[in-house]
Amino acid sequence: MKKILITGAAGQIGSELTELLRNKYGNENVIATIHNQSNKESPIAKPFGRLDSRDQGSLKEIVNNEKIDTVFHLASLLSAKAEENPQLAWDVNANGLVNVLEVARMYNCAIFFPSSIGAFGPGTPRDNTPQITIQRPNTIYGISKLSGELLCDYYYNRYGVEARGVRYPGIISYQAMPGGGTTDYAVHMFYAALQDRQYDCYLKPATMLDMMYMPDALHAAVTLMQADSKKLQYRNAYNVTAMNLTPQELAAEIKKHIPEFEVNYKIDPVRQAIADSWPNYMGDSAARNEWGWQPTYTLSTMVEDMLQQLAKKLES
Ligand code: SER
Repeated sequence: MKKILITGAAGQIGSELTELLRNKYGNENVIATIHNQSNKESPIAKPFGRLDSRDQGSLKEIVNNEKIDTVFHLASLLSAKAEENPQLAWDVNANGLVNVLEVARMYNCAIFFPSSIGAFGPGTPRDNTPQITIQRPNTIYGISKLSGELLCDYYYNRYGVEARGVRYPGIISYQAMPGGGTTDYAVHMFYAALQDRQYDCYLKPATMLDMMYMPDALHAAVTLMQADSKKLQYRNAYNVTAMNLTPQELAAEIKKHIPEFEVNYKIDPVRQAIADSWPNYMGDSAARNEWGWQPTYTLSTMVEDMLQQLAKKLES
């Protein structure tokens, strides 16, 4: 990794990954790009450019001009947003990835592709979900992520493209907001606890899902990209998790710090159905064995840090 391109650099993961990689590799060696039509005030420092990963010509131009050797391809629609516009979700998530893989093949780049717990479906074993198992997702998000996993395998086996990736759980963080996922409640709950002392949760209290704090999510991406190729059997779509929790468990942990915090449950049937089709918790032994995956944060250390950091951010 000498010259890096990041797509989706203004997103929840992208904004923090950009900062981390720039600290590690130097500002000028990390080209951060955000969507052409994004009207988000970019939270990231320069240099950054505009790029729609569906536009192969522009992608090629950047990779060629900047002599990119590694692409972190984070541009994607999340699960709930994707259900609002399935055609757009397929176009961005699947066709965007095909372009990135094609350009990686032409210019000999490695790529990081984040898959998700969403790549599983209702027929998947829900507890300790194995690395290799039944995958019949019933959301367009999941279908696009599963297709992405298979495409990454294909480009490695057919062309030797170092296409690596993990299946992320819900990511909890305090810098950029997640953009329209099903696990977003876990982030919203912190803002509500600090600002309103009250939160209306759209998932049922006992809905269990895997989660991870942002520093661990970033560490997973960087460690996997640095791992010795010979040690990787699966290469992409590694299950990784740090904790599995329910809305009521997260609320109880936050209440230890903010006792007056109250959560009401106003269920959104669309997001509830999505969450119900995903695992309770994944088994991540392949990632642990092959490239030393090891999360740092537990539920209690994550909640403590999140509340501290977010309170600071909201005060400033
Ligand atoms: N956080 C994502 C979502 O909820 C799952 O990968 O859509």
